[in-house]
Amino acid sequence: MMRMIAPSLLAANFNNLQKDIKMINESQADWLHLDVMDGVFVPNISFGFPVLKQVAAICQKPLDVHLMIVEPQKFLKQVKSLNAYLMNVHYEACTHLNRVVNDIHDEGMKAGVTLNPHTPVSLLEDILPEVDLVLLMSVNPGFGGQSFIEHTYRKISTLKEMMLKSNSKALIEVDGGVTDRNAGRLYDAGADILVAGSYVFHAPDPEKAILEIKNA
Ligand code: DX5
Ligand code: ZN
Repeated sequence: MMRMIAPSLLAANFNNLQKDIKMINESQADWLHLDVMDGVFVPNISFGFPVLKQVAAICQKPLDVHLMIVEPQKFLKQVKSLNAYLMNVHYEACTHLNRVVNDIHDEGMKAGVTLNPHTPVSLLEDILPEVDLVLLMSVNPGFGGQSFIEHTYRKISTLKEMMLKSNSKALIEVDGGVTDRNAGRLYDAGADILVAGSYVFHAPDPEKAILEIKNA
């Protein structure tokens, strides 16, 4: 198990992204998590590709793009043009998920499938062998700073069992309400990578906060 962290840019200071990305570059962060919202799939809008292009130009960490949008396949080329490491699409947003996952791979990116808190991991049975990562939402997507939904621990355990049975090597990522208080238990339950927005960027010392999660 890996105990990685992907700070979420959603909680950064948008008046000075350069400063926050410099901090990320110099920190022990493993990836940078980028939350794209469309106001349709989720009840909020964040930032789009013109902003992400500038972020990608100066970020030295692998980019983990989390698309909270309908028809994410329409933006495949634009995500690719960011030189993203991983493209996360929502299970609930893809009618033809197998095709979307194949298309992500054809573009040379890792493919992640994301589940909303109410979506059971059992629905992943047929797609699991194809995916590189499963992202479990531990809040309802759309906003930072919400509180962690406790049943996420159970979902991680169920997913872990399914993965053992199907010999899947997918990573498990958890997103929403992650702090130093739940990080240790999440890693112990089987999470490989934790997304943390508010906990990192609103901390007095964000680099220290990153280490606190990784060492939790
Ligand atoms: C929520 C986003 C998360 C968010 C997490 O819709 O997907 O990535 O930035 O923020 P915190 O860590 O503040 O819950
Ligand atoms: Zn996210």
